[in-house]
Amino acid sequence: MCGIVGYIGHRDAYPVIIKGLQRLEYRGYDSAGIALFDGEQINLSKTKGKVDDLKARSEKEISLAGHLGIGHTRWATHGVPNDCNAHPHTSNSGNLVIIHNGIIENYEAIKKELVKRGYSFESDTDTEVLVNLIEEVKSKENVKLGKAVQIALNQVVGAYAIAVFDRSKPDEIVVAKLGSPLAIGVGDDEFFIASDASPFIEYTNNAVYLEDEEMAVVRLGKEIKLRKIKDDSIAYPLVQELQLNLEAIEKGGYEHFMLKEIYEQPHAIKDTFRGRLRADQGLIRMAGIDQNLERFLNANRIIIVACGTSWHAGLVAEYIFEDLARIPVEVEYASEFRYRNPVISDKDVLIAISQSGETADTLAAIKLAKERGAFVFGVCNVVGSSIARETHAGAYTHAGPEIGVASTKAFTTQITVLTLMALKLAKASGTLSESRLHEMLSELEGIPAKVEKALESNALIEIISDVYKDSTNCLYLGRGYNFPVALEGALKLKEISYIHAEGYPAAEMKHGPIALIDEQMPVIVIATRRGHYEKVVSNIQEIKSRKGKIIAIVTEGDEQVRDLADHVIEVPESSESLSPLLTTIPLQLLSYHIAVMRGCNVDQPRNLAKSVTVE
Ligand code: AGP
Ligand code: GLU
Repeated sequence: MCGIVGYIGHRDAYPVIIKGLQRLEYRGYDSAGIALFDGEQINLSKTKGKVDDLKARSEKEISLAGHLGIGHTRWATHGVPNDCNAHPHTSNSGNLVIIHNGIIENYEAIKKELVKRGYSFESDTDTEVLVNLIEEVKSKENVKLGKAVQIALNQVVGAYAIAVFDRSKPDEIVVAKLGSPLAIGVGDDEFFIASDASPFIEYTNNAVYLEDEEMAVVRLGKEIKLRKIKDDSIAYPLVQELQLNLEAIEKGGYEHFMLKEIYEQPHAIKDTFRGRLRADQGLIRMAGIDQNLERFLNANRIIIVACGTSWHAGLVAEYIFEDLARIPVEVEYASEFRYRNPVISDKDVLIAISQSGETADTLAAIKLAKERGAFVFGVCNVVGSSIARETHAGAYTHAGPEIGVASTKAFTTQITVLTLMALKLAKASGTLSESRLHEMLSELEGIPAKVEKALESNALIEIISDVYKDSTNCLYLGRGYNFPVALEGALKLKEISYIHAEGYPAAEMKHGPIALIDEQMPVIVIATRRGHYEKVVSNIQEIKSRKGKIIAIVTEGDEQVRDLADHVIEVPESSESLSPLLTTIPLQLLSYHIAVMRGCNVDQPRNLAKSVTVE
């Protein structure tokens, strides 16, 4: 995710764009930039840091004149956050300037071809490749910018929301969309381009939202003409009159960032696959693993270090790696690992999991493991973060910025990356047959649609939440792959509703916790069909016989548990190893609705920080 803003019209472009970028910072900001055309030349300024840093730099360094411009606040996917990798990017001739939200998956192959044709590159980004591909098409085919963009986009694989202009034709901006959002604000003889309406809602509430695989040449004095990128057919713009206010737009119309991020999970998981998963060919591309395969295959063990929700993702990974890749795994709280003088050797691989990439305990654990010779691999969500830079190799989750303090899409995308890693290692070591691998990969590819289905229980979950919102304690039970999900569900409830909750392996109940059960104790039990089902049903019966209130997460169509539980929430059928990606969804929604009903500050819960950069 990131933010793109463009303007063409009668106003000075600079104030429109810089304020628009500030409005979009919630979408991700590791660097920012702006390009203005003053009628003669393109004045461009870009910097690592936030939009305020860009504002200070632009107002010092460049002319701010011009009624045409584009700006970008970056959430890096390729190339660490620095001045050079910030957008906008200019083509070799200096005539074309582009901003881009998304990922061009096949940029390396395109870059190689362009280098052969004499192009040079200043940045490490996929975006700079795209603008030079457009330039190459434009000059070779001798076509206008719009046609060149269309031809070029038919050669790329990935996701994009782009705005590009040509200094030799400064009365138009070309935009295109696939997989990332793009809106056009329609004013009186002026147009605004942005990732959402927040940058232009104060100027106009008339907007055209591009659909996937649509592009437009936005030209002053002309109607917007949409066309399909693939077949050049004309699409007719639907100009919507927006009634949204600014805050609602930033949250995508959701009441809280947390709810927005829960609903972003199908898209976020797809972005995690992007460029990595080719189920039809049984392929998984992960450079960080490919280049260090022997280290993983010859490792004595994998040690996973993390904190909080990321630690729960690590526990799921333990089941996945041992079950599928047959590699011994130990999962450690980073805060404990760093101080207990652990035995570490150069035959160990350490995987550090962190959404923010800045968690102090996890960073310290990494440094200790490196000092003692281990190979360290990072799974982070923030490109160029401290942990991403400290590890020997890694894989990004590409979940986009997670604003809500309670991790949701970070958890499911971490599990997705870890599953891809385990399947890749299982394939390399032959612990999984080709046919089983193909089955798993195609099932994994279908997970986003199943997450969409699991989200459909939201209304039912809201009703259940109302019944238990005043509870003082709560138990979460799960077995196998879903034991870590029980822990994660309990953490979600604790951290945003302040109700005490505990997660337990379901079989552990008889070793003490069952003494807690009475009619005041809601017990959330994960009882999916392929996860030790019969055992969990007996656990449910034990609880029921002691009058515990049971909320069961079951596989759709389940009748047996339905007869036992007080409430049943269904998730789609899946193999046990992929079920955490589905069973966690109702637990996220349950904690969200209970917290809202209790009047808690869901996005910024008391006492918590999004990233714990201190011990
Ligand atoms: C989870 O909802 C919390 N936000 C917290 O436990 C978090 O997972 C933990 O602080 C680790 O953060 P990290 O993933 O950024 O390292
Ligand atoms: N892939 C591009 C980059 O890394 C765009 C990332 C974004 O959406 O901000 O620069």
